[in-house]
Amino acid sequence: MNLPVIEIRNLKSAYGDQLVLQEVNLQIPANEITAILGTSGCGKTTLLKHMIGLLKPLEGEIQILGKSILELDENELNDVLKKAGVLFQSGALLNSISLADNIAIPLEQHTNLSKDMIEFIIKQKLELVGLSHAYHYLPGELSGGMRKRAALARAIALDPVILFADEPGAGLDPVTAASLDQLLLSLKEKLGMTLVMVTHETASIKRIADRIIYLGKNRVLFSGTLREALESDIPALITFFNSDSSQKSKA
Ligand SMILES: Nc1ncnc2c1ncn2[C@@H]1O[C@H](COP(=O)(O)OP(=O)(O)OP(=O)(O)O)[C@@H](O)[C@H]1O
Ligand SMILES: [Mg+2]
Repeated sequence: MNLPVIEIRNLKSAYGDQLVLQEVNLQIPANEITAILGTSGCGKTTLLKHMIGLLKPLEGEIQILGKSILELDENELNDVLKKAGVLFQSGALLNSISLADNIAIPLEQHTNLSKDMIEFIIKQKLELVGLSHAYHYLPGELSGGMRKRAALARAIALDPVILFADEPGAGLDPVTAASLDQLLLSLKEKLGMTLVMVTHETASIKRIADRIIYLGKNRVLFSGTLREALESDIPALITFFNSDSSQKSKA
């Protein structure tokens, strides 16, 4: 296992009096793709929000790149988070401005780069996600799959060390989903990124995940390599991996 870039110890989290996570301990190794799995509503997005400092836990410790983020002030936290890109579950592009302007936002907010340099980076990221032709498009003019890739271009605008992605492939056709997977894989292999993704797509997990964290009710039920997950005799994992569409079509 590579050195961890994220470590969570004894995390406890609730919305009001509804407990969502407890005794969560985990490590996310560098330069690997870690998939966070679990049934709907078990707390995956909540866990991701803790990792990027959007939520404060009731208890526990969260270290990112060696820093305890709960002990940092706002400026220090921003410095750490500059090294993290986030692809939200909804994509969350601003609809009233062009794709290029959407990607410019993090660059304008977090860097002092010149306009020419920002334009260069926008073009580079759009090319990477296969959307060079869509520079001037409004988000509403993009298909669902294009929107996912556009949001990915924005998430990687600052060349993050860690990319968090909440269901990047959800709602995509199998061919588009597979090409998105190739893109995520190349971020890891060519750019050395660490990826943390929440997903339900078993085909995608089997193609690209190195490591699996499976959340059960409030807790981590399983943490290990993809192979260990596929060979696990934990009933929830067996059900999860046997309920994918390829299996269903064979049945
Ligand atoms: N902002 C919020 N306020 C109150 N409760 C919330 C909030 N966000 C999530 N919850 C609750 O916390 C639990 C976990 O939600 P979360 O969004 O983390 O689930 P998830 O595992 O990401 O689900 P899905 O696979 O459907 O996206 C759910 O019971 C949900 O109703
Ligand atoms: Mg979610």
